[in-house]
Amino acid sequence: ARAIKVESRLSGLVLCGATLKRVAEVFAHEIENGLRQKPSSLQMENTYVPELPDGTEEGVFLALDLGGTNFRVLYLELCGGELVREDVKHYHISDELRLGPGEDLFNFLADCVLDFLRSEGMEKDELSLGFTFSFPMKQHSISSGELITWTKSFKCGGMAGVDVAALLQRCLNDRGLKVTVQVLLNDTTGTLVAGAHLDPEVAIGVILGTGSNGCYMERADRVVHWESSYERVHDVCVDIEWGAFGDNGCLNFLRTDFDEEVDRNSLLATSFTFEKYIGGKYLGDLLCAVLGGLARDGLFPATPVWGELQSAHVSMFEEENSVGDWEQTAEALCEACGGALISRADAFVAQHVARVISNRAAQLVSVCIATLLRRMNRNHTAVAVDGSVFKRHPRIRNLMNKYIALLAPKDKFTLLGAEDGSGKGSALTAAIAARVAARST
Ligand code: BG6
Ligand code: GLC
Repeated sequence: ARAIKVESRLSGLVLCGATLKRVAEVFAHEIENGLRQKPSSLQMENTYVPELPDGTEEGVFLALDLGGTNFRVLYLELCGGELVREDVKHYHISDELRLGPGEDLFNFLADCVLDFLRSEGMEKDELSLGFTFSFPMKQHSISSGELITWTKSFKCGGMAGVDVAALLQRCLNDRGLKVTVQVLLNDTTGTLVAGAHLDPEVAIGVILGTGSNGCYMERADRVVHWESSYERVHDVCVDIEWGAFGDNGCLNFLRTDFDEEVDRNSLLATSFTFEKYIGGKYLGDLLCAVLGGLARDGLFPATPVWGELQSAHVSMFEEENSVGDWEQTAEALCEACGGALISRADAFVAQHVARVISNRAAQLVSVCIATLLRRMNRNHTAVAVDGSVFKRHPRIRNLMNKYIALLAPKDKFTLLGAEDGSGKGSALTAAIAARVAARST
């Protein structure tokens, strides 16, 4: 009897084929509107990356990766398109910096570059830098762009309309460094470029990590937003920013009371609603919201403390569930619920919830990828994917393969794990930018 009641309480999270088709139709419509600069919840930003690696990329580059799980500074050396050296240093960004004035954050970023160069004995060197800034931007060129809004766990003040590449450049100059910000890119673009280096059929880049987003190669004549100084090319990489899909209300039919609770408790409420269905930053909260809801209805013994469950728990519950175990699940739940007693049957309920929310996340990200495959209509497309959820969730890849094939039955595709978009991808993008610039002078 409990199983039936749980099932009925979760029914809003279970999406049928017809609902997924409806989401796909809305997504396709929002893509068109976004590209034409008509009202849309999709940014469809021109990244000004006009081509992918061709194996001739050369040079030494610095890279900065801000916005995923780790903040990193990297030194990279490319020779004949291959990465021949990569040094990396991770730095911790405190809550104070993530939530304080933007100037402080960018001064810290420049301090990290200085520290990194000192440790490499390179603080006097002239270097080009690729800045992977994984937030929505209004890009004016391949090397400039304004932050539109913070997402995930960043919310710095005083940044509206600020060109983040110019601000970083100023902070680097203030420290006497001879480092030039050569390209400014989103992590999806870095992933697409890094993936295209592995497989020339890659034409879509996806992040399934803290947040979720995708980019793809679009025909340039379909992109309305071009800054006048840019020559129109054949194709261009477009950053969709699908995390914001539905922020205009077009997806309200998907929304459950659990989603509302996650949104209300998030750092940036009422924005990036779609990302809150998929991103690793929110899957633990969603699990918490659902178990809390079940507890209120007497279907679960206790309400987990908000913030005590993370996406790693979702992965762990799924892992245990696949072999029929429950002890670790129960132990984690007991801890998250302040010591409440969790039985075997309770643990199975929580594993079932993890299954349902993982399934929905996989379905929704698959809708986006399938819609792009249909739109691009190629013989075969490889999709470069990165991010902690994709890498660590035990079932997500198989689920995505299944749902994409169901939603785009005529389009052949491969999901390709492509790591280090903000390292290798950023260096390759800087080299591409240099190549394109040399050609047009
Ligand atoms: C990394 C990329 O591998 O994945 C980053 O190099 C990207 O650019 C990150 O932001 C996304 O995943 P997560 O899980 O760290 O948000
Ligand atoms: C958020 C950001 C987006 C980024 C994604 C994955 O959605 O807005 O720019 O690509 O997270 O990191």
